[in-house]
Order: sequence, then structure tokens, then C-alpha cells
Amino acid sequence: MNRTPLIAGNWKMYKTVGDAERYIQALLPRVAGLEGVEIAIATPYTALAAMVDSTRGSRVGVYAQNMHEAAEGAFTGEISAPMLVELDVAGVVIGHSERRQYFAENDRAVSLKVAAALQAGLLPILCVGETEEERLAGDTERKLRHQVQEGLEHTPPERIAEVAIAYEPIWAIGTGRVATPDQAQEAASFVRALVGALRAGVDDQVRVLYGGSVNAANAAELLALPDVDGALVGGASLDAESFAAIAAAARERTR
Ligand code: PGA
Repeated sequence: MNRTPLIAGNWKMYKTVGDAERYIQALLPRVAGLEGVEIAIATPYTALAAMVDSTRGSRVGVYAQNMHEAAEGAFTGEISAPMLVELDVAGVVIGHSERRQYFAENDRAVSLKVAAALQAGLLPILCVGETEEERLAGDTERKLRHQVQEGLEHTPPERIAEVAIAYEPIWAIGTGRVATPDQAQEAASFVRALVGALRAGVDDQVRVLYGGSVNAANAAELLALPDVDGALVGGASLDAESFAAIAAAARERTR
């Protein structure tokens, strides 16, 4: 197994361009030595161009938090994959539970976005995860099966390995209630098996991340799990020091 760990920060709707510039100057020296760890930060659209400039030549990739599935069109307020690629954005978070919940993003749109991102040359992070109700009802696997299969439906099988899949239990996002290592490992391994069922051998290649209340104190334990190849980090990615500490915890995985 030689899957490069991916530590991705998701700033959500936080930080002006000025905030982003101060943050990146604090982050870069702290992560410069982390060989073997891929680091990404998904910023608001408004900070993308400045962040791409400031991170050039570093190990930090700049990601978007969403995109439209069409290359262009009459879709007021939307941004397309070619527009992100033109800025040298490296990847994009797709189907985050906040997009699904507050902006009515459905599985079909998510699936088209994943395929369009890949086609344009962006690395997609596809987010999946169950609500607390679904977990309590024993429906976690059913939900994950549905979201993984639907989310990858339009992706050509030979490109599935390029998609990173973030398992993010919705009850753990922004709540401080992190999944237990057993819960995270069980779900990540299930997601990996689902991908393997879509195309043999891809289960060994695809990166599965955990997301939901990851912080500098719990990251090492989660990142040591055999099927967790990285983390999608919200709140704790807003502070350069704590985000760097999480990335440093992933370094252990590469040893
Ligand atoms: P959190 O968010 O780390 O603040 O729980 C994770 C996410 O939304 O991706």
C-alpha cells in the first residue's frame, strides 16, 4: 500500500483575502518539511487566485469548495471547472453535506460534478456520510452504498482511483463529537470495498479520508487507522498551527 496521505482543510465561508494571506504565511514554514504528505486547502472562491500565487512551489494545493457540473452556461452565481483550472486550482470538494443540506445538491448533480472535475483536471474529494438518525437506525451502510455508487456513476471506471472519498458522518461535523476509531475504520473500510466492487483493484488505490471534528489532539489516532488515508478538516483548519499539526500527524503514516 503506498497511498499518499491527503490532509485537506475546508475553510467553508471563512477568511477574506487578507486573512488568507496571513494564514498562508504562517502555514508554509510549518509544513515545509512534511515530505510524503499532500496538503490541500479549500478556500472561498474569492481567495483562490491569491492563494494559488502564495503557495506556488510549496507542498500546499489550493482547492475550491464546490463547482458547477457544466463547463459554462446561464447559471447565475455559479463557477465551472475550467474557470478553476485557469487559476491553477488543483482540486475541489464535491457533495459536502452542507451543500447537500442547505443548497439542495442531489446525488445526480454530485455525480456529474465529480466526472466534470476529473475531466477538467481537478482532483475531486467526494463527501459521503450518514446522519445520526441513519446511524441509530442501522442504515449507515445503506446510505454509504447509495452515495458512493451514485456519486461515482458518471466517472469512467479507469479514473475512479483518482477520486478521494471523504467519509464524514454528519453528526460529527462541527460538533466536537468525533467518530471513534472503530467507527471511522469500519466505515472507511466499507467505502473502500464499495469502490473495489465498482472496479477490481481500485480499492487498494483510492484514498479514503475521514472528516468530522478532526483536530490536532485526535488526528494521530485517526490517521493511524489502516483504511484512513487522510482527513478533511473544517474548524481546525482555520488556524495554521493546528492544521500544520494535523498534517504532521499524517507524516507518521508515511514512515
Ligand atoms: P469539522 O468540519 O472539522 O469542523 O467538523 C469537517 C467538514 O465539514 O469537512
